[in-house]
Amino acid sequence: MALLEVNGISKSYQANIQVLRNIEFSVNAGEFVSIIGPSGAGKSTLLRCLNRLVEVNSGEILFNGLDVTKLKRKELRQLRTNIGMVFQHYNLVPRLTVIENVLHGRFGYKSTLAGMLGHFTEEEKEKAFSLLKQMGIEEHAYKRCDQLSGGQQQRVGICRALIQNPKLILCDEPIASLDPNASKVIMDHLRSITTDLGITCLVNLHQVEVAQDNSDRIIGLNKGEVIFDGKPIRLDRTMIEHVYGMESRELITV
Ligand SMILES: Nc1ncnc2c1ncn2[C@@H]1O[C@H](COP(=O)(O)OP(=O)(O)O)[C@@H](O)[C@H]1O
Ligand SMILES: [Mg+2]
Repeated sequence: MALLEVNGISKSYQANIQVLRNIEFSVNAGEFVSIIGPSGAGKSTLLRCLNRLVEVNSGEILFNGLDVTKLKRKELRQLRTNIGMVFQHYNLVPRLTVIENVLHGRFGYKSTLAGMLGHFTEEEKEKAFSLLKQMGIEEHAYKRCDQLSGGQQQRVGICRALIQNPKLILCDEPIASLDPNASKVIMDHLRSITTDLGITCLVNLHQVEVAQDNSDRIIGLNKGEVIFDGKPIRLDRTMIEHVYGMESRELITV
């Protein structure tokens, strides 16, 4: 059984403008899958539908066999502990320390009050440190997040997602705000989350080559439709042009 099965979901924010059209795909446990496509294709919307930050208009989303679109509030909270998220702009709390931001990933497991009072167990704190160490930023644990570089902040974002013990990590353009060196570091870390920890990753990416270099499988989205779903090797020039439409010339020559 697939970890994630998306069956014919559609979404429109406004009447008559369909942002996602009858999207179908599935992701197996342990896969690293990239979603590519031009801006406006619906990549962010699709990712946000998967953990109900955005509600679909129709279709079903099965996570471990459970239909995400039908979950009540408590079950939804549980689902969100199983699905970590990494954002383009990191979504950290800038004036809090690195370690505090990582521990925020545990909120889904706590009562609101315990979370607000910052009641975390020794085990949680040790886990937070060991994740920071894995990402090579443990020496920054007590700095305010806004003192870190973009690449370092994104590593904090990854630690915050990992401390949830997620089965799936969704990343929305995780390297779009980073320089090439920092991007490489982040992609290597994400890749090893799947390879070494066995956690499934679904990553929105604008850059084709990055997707090709890192993915087990690529899904190509254009105007809200899946028009490619296959191994990177099958994504040839013609298919890339098909996915990116008018934008492709720009992408290929740059
Ligand atoms: N909250 C929203 N309300 C209305 N329209 C939206 C909203 N979010 C995205 N859209 C529209 O949906 C389309 C797809 O956007 P998005 O999912 O952000 O695509 P991508 O991430 O591929 O750039 C765009 O036309 C965008 O303007
Ligand atoms: Mg987007």
